[in-house]
Amino acid sequence: MISIPQNIQELVSYKPGKPVAQIIEELGLTEWAVLWNNGNNLGPSLKVLERIQEAAITSHKYPDPASIQLRTMIAANNNCEIDNVVVDNGSESVFDCMFRAFFKAGEELLTCDGTFVAVYIWAKSNKVPVARIPLARGYQFDIDRLIDSVTPQTKAIYVANPNNPTGAMITKDQLNQLIDNVSDDVLIIVDEAYYEYAKVISDDYPDSFELRRPNVITLRTFSKAYGIAGIRVGYALGDSRLIEALSKVKMTFAPSNLAQAAGIGALEDEAHMHKSVMLNKTALQQFYNALHDAELEYTPSFGNFVMVDLKEEELAKAVAEKMMQKGIFIRHLKAFGLPHCVRISTGTEAENALFVSKLV
Ligand SMILES: Cc1ncc(COP(=O)(O)O)c(C=O)c1O
Repeated sequence: MISIPQNIQELVSYKPGKPVAQIIEELGLTEWAVLWNNGNNLGPSLKVLERIQEAAITSHKYPDPASIQLRTMIAANNNCEIDNVVVDNGSESVFDCMFRAFFKAGEELLTCDGTFVAVYIWAKSNKVPVARIPLARGYQFDIDRLIDSVTPQTKAIYVANPNNPTGAMITKDQLNQLIDNVSDDVLIIVDEAYYEYAKVISDDYPDSFELRRPNVITLRTFSKAYGIAGIRVGYALGDSRLIEALSKVKMTFAPSNLAQAAGIGALEDEAHMHKSVMLNKTALQQFYNALHDAELEYTPSFGNFVMVDLKEEELAKAVAEKMMQKGIFIRHLKAFGLPHCVRISTGTEAENALFVSKLV
């Protein structure tokens, strides 16, 4: 029998729930809003579709392994050289590359509880121990405690800004505090999957790449504000030495030619992205008003979702279930380590209005 390593045995395999279409049919829903995935229900720009169509004709050719055109555009947007950019099949894939590129046996990742679940999964599948500290009050990353928790084994610190699923933000001062108080032989990974949304919500939102620190890597994605989660394209920005190491371990031909084309199309239509982030900003305010009226406690969010604290697991589960019966699909956060909370992503204008009308 083929033995499966202990760390892989301990991972829980993904168990897909019932497809949404089936639930809609079973419940006989006539209207619904799918707000449980932190994607972008506005969908992709037409420019993306155009670029994919053009690229599809050359599907018999391998993609450009260096993604030169896409990286050039990303570099121009971020005022850097293409050597400061690596692209891959979503930012999750770049994150996975970090373990092969940077970690030696015995080195650890330091982060908080209640952050992006894939972080714990990819660390474990790469046999990297994760030191976890609790979130601070307000479901924030606990910067003081992160600094105090660095040990000689700490290779990297992961923070998501804003955090998923809590929505909380690390401010400019807090990020500087973290970077200034950690030795520069510790890598600081700042996951900015919701960067485009956060930037228009708060002037105090820091762009971690702008700091140009040799031990900071910034993760970004086309999955959220650009609306192409299904295509799988994301990137990292950082010091060219670190980016080169990541480039060495990523799959040679990732991302695909269609994904590279989609990323190019997305960047050619910044107006579409801007429409998404402004719609989200309005939606968050609508959600806050509705949650306030319903006397529910929420964490102010800097992403495209809001987390509601229902205090008890049973209540959180029941609320998610009841909302589903009404056609509103929201996420109970048990699997995220926050069983007393639910998360509601923002959607289209019509979906947001439907959520508000069904909350009462
Ligand atoms: C914090 C965070 N990072 C990364 C991702 C995944 O991004 P990608 O689709 O680029 O892999 C998500 C998606 O939910 C996220 O919330």
